[in-house]
Amino acid sequence: MGRIGVFDSGYGGLTILDSIRKRMPEYDYIYLGDNARAPYGTRSFDVVYEFTLQAVQKLFALGCPLVILGCNTASAKALRSIQQKYLPVHAPDHRVLGVIRPTAEVVGQLSHTRHIGVLATEGTIKSQSYNLEIEKLYPGSTIVGQACPMWVPLVECGEFDKPGADYFVRDSLQKLLAQDPLIDTIILGCTHYPLLLDKISQQLHDLTTPIPHGREVQDVSSQIRIIPQGQYIAASLDDYLHRHPEMAQRLTRGGTCQYFTTESPTRFRESASLFLHDEITAQRITLN
Ligand code: DGL
Repeated sequence: MGRIGVFDSGYGGLTILDSIRKRMPEYDYIYLGDNARAPYGTRSFDVVYEFTLQAVQKLFALGCPLVILGCNTASAKALRSIQQKYLPVHAPDHRVLGVIRPTAEVVGQLSHTRHIGVLATEGTIKSQSYNLEIEKLYPGSTIVGQACPMWVPLVECGEFDKPGADYFVRDSLQKLLAQDPLIDTIILGCTHYPLLLDKISQQLHDLTTPIPHGREVQDVSSQIRIIPQGQYIAASLDDYLHRHPEMAQRLTRGGTCQYFTTESPTRFRESASLFLHDEITAQRITLN
């Protein structure tokens, strides 16, 4: 019997964990944040794979037969190799799932124009993972991506709701919209970004609202839909457990969650409360 493990480079996966626990509060969970080595977004494929595999192995050792990579960067750069090379040899009865495929599955249903924007870390954008997944599922879609290198540091440092964040949010949105004025759906392809949602909505509104009095009207829709991933990942996991009762039966149902971080537990506790709106305790863990 075991628990569901949720992994992220830092705090971002807490937005995924929160949605999963709201939908399936009965299960027991372990959250692991590699805060000491975050951000992952600008790291190479090899390094993200190595760090992610270490975290997955730790979650297996802590008793999780099922691990969710609640991190787009890890899902983009490490998931396929873990699923195809590591698991069959070293842990054939364990499963690791990511966040990109479930998000790609819903976005084609939500977009009317099939012009889709992706905001994510440099690593996720460069991997082209969203483009590949969406085109596979919805051929003919137009997908443009914009890396937002400052957004994760703003969130990790607790600056996401400060006035200074507005500049960086607006700058990345402007660059995304300039690539394709027909975008009607934007994926927040990084689990940290929901914390910036208020600022993203505000800046998007300002950028896309036509300016009156004969001044130039921007050629973009004011009806752009923003997709944070949490609810879709939670629905997808729920569906997975229904389709795999053999895995669901291996999971304990006590409604608990334990938190581990590779950095200071005190700092983790303080910052996690911003994501979860709840008081938690955390333990320090090492991965290498
Ligand atoms: N939260 C992670 C993601 O979804 C990455 C943040 C980072 O470590 O750069 O991509």
